[in-house]
Amino acid sequence: MAASSKAPPSAAALVQAARRARRNAHADYSHFKVGAALETADGRIITGCNIENATYGLTVCAERVAMWKALSEGHRKFRRIAVVADTADPTPPCGPCRQILWEFGGDLDVILANLRAEKGRHKLSALLPLPFDARLL
Ligand code: THU
Repeated sequence: MAASSKAPPSAAALVQAARRARRNAHADYSHFKVGAALETADGRIITGCNIENATYGLTVCAERVAMWKALSEGHRKFRRIAVVADTADPTPPCGPCRQILWEFGGDLDVILANLRAEKGRHKLSALLPLPFDARLL
């Protein structure tokens, strides 16, 4: 991982990165394409898209793809995540993704958007109250 820090991207840039990542989604079964863009503490953007496969059950959501990519590239601290789907109502992270984002990202700002506009901002702690994590082990 490069040592230097970058200026934080704007929320609009984060959302735009999630929209771009969404185009790479493998969603042949649900046809529901999702993109995510995770901002690291040093201002980098790591993207993800949902990846489905023929077993259905091994599907990985865009948010977790972004987090696995970031962790595997050595990133450890995160600020925000943008999630984009082509829906009028915002698409919030599913339960398992909330858990993974919490454990590895802490109390992220979660920005929800569709292809045209931002649809809301939430603290992850509001989406996952009373979380289970390593502090309780
Ligand atoms: N999905 C995501 O990638 N992120 C979400 O926040 C919600 C759901 C994916 C999983 C599956 O590929 C498709 O959307 C339909 O559930």
